[in-house]
Amino acid sequence: MSLNLGVLVSGRGTNLQSLIDKSTSGEIDAKVAVVLSDNPDAYALKRARKAGIPAIYIDPCTTKPVLVGEAEVEYMKVLNEYKVDLVCLAGFMRIIKENFLNEFKWRLMNIHPALLPSFKGLHAQKQALEYGVRFSGATVHFVTGHVDGGPIILQAVVPVYKDDTEETLSERILAEEHRIYAEAIELFAKGKIEIRDNRVITGGLDE
Ligand code: GRF
Repeated sequence: MSLNLGVLVSGRGTNLQSLIDKSTSGEIDAKVAVVLSDNPDAYALKRARKAGIPAIYIDPCTTKPVLVGEAEVEYMKVLNEYKVDLVCLAGFMRIIKENFLNEFKWRLMNIHPALLPSFKGLHAQKQALEYGVRFSGATVHFVTGHVDGGPIILQAVVPVYKDDTEETLSERILAEEHRIYAEAIELFAKGKIEIRDNRVITGGLDE
C-alpha cells in the first residue's frame, strides 16, 4: 500500500518538487497527501497546488522558530486528517517539540545539507566552506528532540572544491538531497528501516 506523505515546508520547495515528481513517476511508493507551511508566501505551496496537492498555510502564532501551542495541535490535526504515515520536513524552519515528536515518533524525517553531526543548524554549506572541509554532503535523519541530531538514515558525500561558493556547493549538495530523501522514503515504505539502540539499520532496496 502506498505511503501517505505530509511535507512541511517554509521556502522554495525543491525537495518537495523532487518528491512530487518521484511519486508521480512511481519511483517511490508514496504520494504527497498534503503540504503544510508556516509561511503563506512559500513558493513550495505554489508547487504543491500546481500538482493538485492540498497546500495549507497554518499560522505558527509565534515569532520564535518553534512549532508549539495551538499551531502544533492544528498541524497534527491536519496531518492526521489526511492519514499521513510519514512526515517529511523539507526546509521547514521551525523546531519540532515534544507533543508532535511523540505523535509521529519514528515517522518524522528531515533532510540536512551537511554530513551530520558536522555543521548543524542554519547555513550548513557556509559553515562547511568556512571550516575548509574537503567533503560535505547531505543527511536524512529521523527527527528527535535533539535538533539535527536524530538517528541517521542515509548520507551522501560531495567534494568541496577550492573555488566553491556557497551557491555552487549548495547546488552540488541539493542534487544529492533530492536523491537520498527519495531513497530514505522508499526504504521506509518497504519496511527496510529498523531502529536498534537509537541507530538506524537499513536493508538494501533490492534485497
Ligand atoms: C535544503 O537545503 C534542506 O536540506 C534544508 O533546507 C533546504 C530546503 O530547500 N533543510 P528546498 O526548499 O527543498 O529547495
